[in-house]
Amino acid sequence: MALYLIMIIGAAAAIVVGYKVLRLLRLKVPPGPRALPIVGNLYDIKPVVVRCFTEWSQVYGPIFSVYLGSHLNVVVNSAALAKEVLKDNDQQLAYRNRTPQINKVSRNGMDLIWSDYGPHYVRVRKLCTLELFSMKRIDALRPIREDEVTAMVESIFRDCTTNKPADKGVVLREYLGMMAFLHITRLTFGKRFIDSKGMIDEQGKELKYILENAVLKSGTRKSGLAEFLPPWCSFLFNVDSEALAAHNVRIDTFTDKIMEEHILARNNTGNTNNHFVDALLTLKNEYQLSHDSVIALLWNMISAGMDTTAITLEWAMAEIVMSPRVQQKAQEELDRVVGRGRVMTEADIPNLPYLQCVTKECLRLHPPTPLMLPHKASTDVKIGGYHVPKGATVSVNVWAIARDPAVWENPLEFRPERFQEEDVDMKGTDYRLLPFGSGRRICPGAQLAIYLVSSTLGHLLHHFNWTLPWGVKAEDIDMMEQPGMVTYMRTPVRAVPTPRLPADLYKRLVAENV
Ligand code: HEM
Repeated sequence: MALYLIMIIGAAAAIVVGYKVLRLLRLKVPPGPRALPIVGNLYDIKPVVVRCFTEWSQVYGPIFSVYLGSHLNVVVNSAALAKEVLKDNDQQLAYRNRTPQINKVSRNGMDLIWSDYGPHYVRVRKLCTLELFSMKRIDALRPIREDEVTAMVESIFRDCTTNKPADKGVVLREYLGMMAFLHITRLTFGKRFIDSKGMIDEQGKELKYILENAVLKSGTRKSGLAEFLPPWCSFLFNVDSEALAAHNVRIDTFTDKIMEEHILARNNTGNTNNHFVDALLTLKNEYQLSHDSVIALLWNMISAGMDTTAITLEWAMAEIVMSPRVQQKAQEELDRVVGRGRVMTEADIPNLPYLQCVTKECLRLHPPTPLMLPHKASTDVKIGGYHVPKGATVSVNVWAIARDPAVWENPLEFRPERFQEEDVDMKGTDYRLLPFGSGRRICPGAQLAIYLVSSTLGHLLHHFNWTLPWGVKAEDIDMMEQPGMVTYMRTPVRAVPTPRLPADLYKRLVAENV
């Protein structure tokens, strides 16, 4: 009897093992560069990851595997494969891969960006679509955008007409970064942390400290790599989890204070505002959000909505100063539609089709998140005929797709007219152009970002002529990316602004009580 039992168990075990071996042999993951034990391909990845992956796609094909430590990451590099990921297998590939560090920052995925697809995600996403980013709210927040864009114009005007040596130009990133910071923090927390004289208050200083610290914590390549190695290797990279915990405490203290102020103001006046903090405090119970989730969501908006817009605008201005033809055409349109006797507003954008094409062309050539955010497989799927196992990460190389000569004519040329010849959607229905992603996890801030980018570009071109600093030629501009998940220009671009409107049109349009 015992012998029979042993034979049956043995046969069952052999079937299970045999099945697994056969399955592994039959299920082929995409090809890719040779991975070493423990580190995988980490030793071989070049600092500007998107350029490295684009080169590898030319060697291994439009879909390839890359191992971050022992973690499988599948990278797709064509519009057809992007559709397989973001449409055909959208739900199965809608999880996120959270490294231990991201788990801490996102409070175990109780936010939106790092949450896995599931009941929490669906609830929070619904809140974003119906409430935070509804057209009604985006419209109501328009005065803040116009205030911050005109404040930026005013400071460029002041600097270029007074104290700066004119022929050296201005560093655009300084102005664009400040505008993006003030815009998103005001939208999120409902206050401007810098007064009209440029003085930052104590809360603003703390906010800046938190943001700069966050960049240091998550942006270093060293600690980023350590996340993918087995825990016993982490000592090599000195990942400081105590510092991360202390950082989270500062975030909590800062945000709790802001929330207290809003609750107090609401109790005193009986009014609620349109800022995200007010909206979340009002809707917290209806959407069953914990206190932790509210905090995490507020900070999601800052981290997703600040650098992305500043980066897009800096690349856009670099392309524009290198292309006087495009600049002149956009200015002719602005002069025709807006004239030179008033300032443009967002209401003019629908009547500025060429400006809209300029925005689109910038986002085609320079999507600020060139590999989108990584998606994770919640189950086994097939992409491009290859096996992608449950738990693997899938990245879509939207940068390479938007420069693919198979789908774009002269893809490296900055030519907004291509979108006058063919109207290509950039909000997720055309897989050749995906700066905001597509499908369930598409960027919820896309429309807000498009308004802000188009309006900023419109103002910069309407108010100023932009030329290269004295002695600099277009080919001297460094069009290479800085390493990182979001791709700033490696070298901040300088350009010389020359005012082209009457001096009284350079005043900030202050938005009171918004
Ligand atoms: C030019 C500006 C922007 C670009 C190019 C951009 C692009 C993207 C991309 C590619 C994703 C990932 C999509 C995916 O995983 O499939 C994303 C996600 C996200 N974006 Fe944006 N974004 C921009 C601005 C903004 C702004 C202004 C906000 C908010 C104020 C925002 C909020 C978010 C959030 C919350 C997510 C996470 C969505 C999710 O996981 O479900 N983004 N964005």
